[in-house]
Amino acid sequence: MAEILAVGEAMEQALALLRGGDVVAIPTETVYGLAGDATNGIAVARIFEAKGRPRFNPLIAHVADMAMAERIALFDPLSKKLALAFWPGPLTLVLPQRPGNGIHPLVTAGLDTIALRMPRGFGGELIARLGRPLAAPSANSSGKISATTAQAVAADLGARIKLVVDGGATPVGLESTIVKVEGSAARLLRPGGIAAGEIEAVIGMKLLRGGAVGVEAPGMLASHYAPGAAVRLNAGTVGEGEALLAFGSRRAEGWRHAAAFLNLSVSGDLREAASNLFAYMQDLDRSGARTIAVEPVPFDGLGEAINDRLSRAAAPRDNTQPTT
Ligand code: TXA
Ligand code: MG
Repeated sequence: MAEILAVGEAMEQALALLRGGDVVAIPTETVYGLAGDATNGIAVARIFEAKGRPRFNPLIAHVADMAMAERIALFDPLSKKLALAFWPGPLTLVLPQRPGNGIHPLVTAGLDTIALRMPRGFGGELIARLGRPLAAPSANSSGKISATTAQAVAADLGARIKLVVDGGATPVGLESTIVKVEGSAARLLRPGGIAAGEIEAVIGMKLLRGGAVGVEAPGMLASHYAPGAAVRLNAGTVGEGEALLAFGSRRAEGWRHAAAFLNLSVSGDLREAASNLFAYMQDLDRSGARTIAVEPVPFDGLGEAINDRLSRAAAPRDNTQPTT
């Protein structure tokens, strides 16, 4: 069962857990977050595992200051203006990633953009002490509402995590507002803790809403994760010129002739497999093979999310229908 420690006494233990690649539930001004080192794939996989997320939705990376934010993402002038006006605070900005920023691809679900936010209070101090960004979705199991007290976090996730940092009830109580600048305009991707009107007052124009064409719901488009190569699932054999994405210790027939070969987890560890998934798909795609054959991955635990992403990668490429 998770230990609950007040903010005043939790810092060292939280740092030790995060440095060891573990997750910690922390208070932010919006809702409690389930935080892990955003540069460590195993830590990020643990977040999804603890939440029981059926899918790898992209996560928000939390930063301590503007310098850290600019090492991770590329700011256009309008995004910079919003950051200066509302950070630290309940605003999340979706920005292009700076190449080589060290963020693990599981945080962004392989996207080339990243959602960034600078939280107030304990979270900000923790990130500054750690010296690394924290990936943190709301600290609730998948499908439940976001937790706004340490007790609610412990009741929901307590059996699956080691530490809940208690900062009392979160002042905002609602997740952050998510905005993405698109050229000279800005789009509201999720209403939240800062009212749209406050943002509109700062940028001097209306926010775009919804988004039939520019629908910005990563992970929602069936073919979103599609690499250039075709993807063939549940492969029991490897065909001529195919690359093989393996899992576990039993090999598909003909694997020695694979054009390229990577194993998501030799020991069959789904957490390790999750942390390798996006990077390995990209590597095998870069090998130039026409098709990536994928060995079966079990559906238990994180396997459900891994299979969800694999089936999206294998989906027909002209499919742009939202699938939630
Ligand atoms: O207040 C909050 O934002 C809380 C606290 C813990 O910071 N966090 C939170 O995280 O609500 P989560 O994972 O529950 O919601 C993150 C949202 C998701 O809807 C996700 O689709 C969106 O952010 N998102 C993440 N990366 C994105 C990206 N690159 N482009 C567009 N949306 C993105
Ligand atoms: Mg959430």
